[in-house]
Amino acid sequence: MDYNKQYDFYLSIVENEIKCAFNSLKNVPDLLKYAMEYAVIGGGKRVRPVLCFAVAENLGVDLNKIKEFAFAIECIHSYSLVHDDLPAMDNDDYRRGKLSTHKKFGEAYGILAGDALLNFAFEYCLNKIDFDKKDALALKLLAEYAGASGMIAGQVLDLQNEKNNLPNEKILYDIYINKTAKLLTAPLLIASIAADNKYFNEFKEFGLNLGAMFQISDDIMDVEGSLEEIGKTPNKDSGVDKLTSIKVFGLDGAKARLKEHYNKCLDLLNKINANSFLKEFTEKMYLRKK
Ligand code: IPE
Ligand code: IPE
Ligand code: MG
Ligand code: MG
Ligand code: MG
Repeated sequence: MDYNKQYDFYLSIVENEIKCAFNSLKNVPDLLKYAMEYAVIGGGKRVRPVLCFAVAENLGVDLNKIKEFAFAIECIHSYSLVHDDLPAMDNDDYRRGKLSTHKKFGEAYGILAGDALLNFAFEYCLNKIDFDKKDALALKLLAEYAGASGMIAGQVLDLQNEKNNLPNEKILYDIYINKTAKLLTAPLLIASIAADNKYFNEFKEFGLNLGAMFQISDDIMDVEGSLEEIGKTPNKDSGVDKLTSIKVFGLDGAKARLKEHYNKCLDLLNKINANSFLKEFTEKMYLRKK
C-alpha cells in the first residue's frame, strides 16, 4: 500500500476510536464533555497513535488489540497541550488552528477538561474487553512515561529553565527527552509489549531520537512558521526566553542536530529491518513544516 493510503488507514482507525470513546462517556456534565471533545477532536496530526499502529503492524500485532491504547495516548497528549497552553504555563491562545481550550471555555474548565482527559485515557483502556497482563504492563509504562518522572517532569524542567542564562546541552536533552520524547516513545513500546517485547530496546532508542528530532523541529517551526502553517502563535519561545535547541545551538546548529537525529533514527530502523512506512514516516517528521 502506498504511504498516504496507509497513513489514512491508520488515521481512520484512530478517528473511529476517538468517536467510540466519546460515545462511551456517561454521566458527564455537558460543558465538560464539550471541552474534552474540543481538546481532542480536530486539528491534531495524530502522530502518536499512527506510530503505535505502524509499529504494531511491523511486529505482526493485531491493530484491534491496541486501538484503546492508541486513543489513550492521543487523549493524554491532548490534555498535555491543554495544560501547556494555560496562562500559568505557556499562555498560548491558539492550538491546532483554533482557540486553545481555556480560551474557548475559560481557564477553570480548561484545567478540568485536562484532568478529565487524563483519567479518561486510563479508564477507557481498563474497560477494554479481555484486558490482560500485557495490557497492564502497557498501561504501567504509559503512566510512567506521561507522569511525574516523564512528560510532567519535562514540563517542570521546561518552566524552571526559562531565562536560564547558563543553557547547556545536558539540561536541554533532559527537558526534551521527558516533555516530548517519552510520549512519542510510549506508543512504540506499547506495540512492542503487545509483541512480547520484540525490539523493545531498539524502539526505545529510536523513540528517544525521534522525540528529540520532533521537539527540535517544533523549535524551528516556532521561529520559521506562521500561525496558518503551525496552527499556534509563532515566536513564543524567544518571547519568554525558553531553553530551546535554538538557544543552545543557534538556528543552523539546531538544523544540524535535527539531521543527526534523523540519521540515527534511520540506522535504528535499518537495524531491525523496519518496513518502508516507518522509514517514510520518519522522513516526513524530519521534513515537517507543521
Ligand atoms: C505538539 O505536538 C507538542 C510537542 C510535543 C512539540 P504535535 O505537533 O504532535 O501536536 P498535534 O497533536 O499535531 O496538535
Ligand atoms: C510541549 O512543548 C510539550 C508538551 C508536553 C505539551 P512546547 O510547549 O514547545 O509545545 P507547543 O509548541 O506549545 O506545541
Ligand atoms: Mg511548553
Ligand atoms: Mg507550549
Ligand atoms: Mg513549541
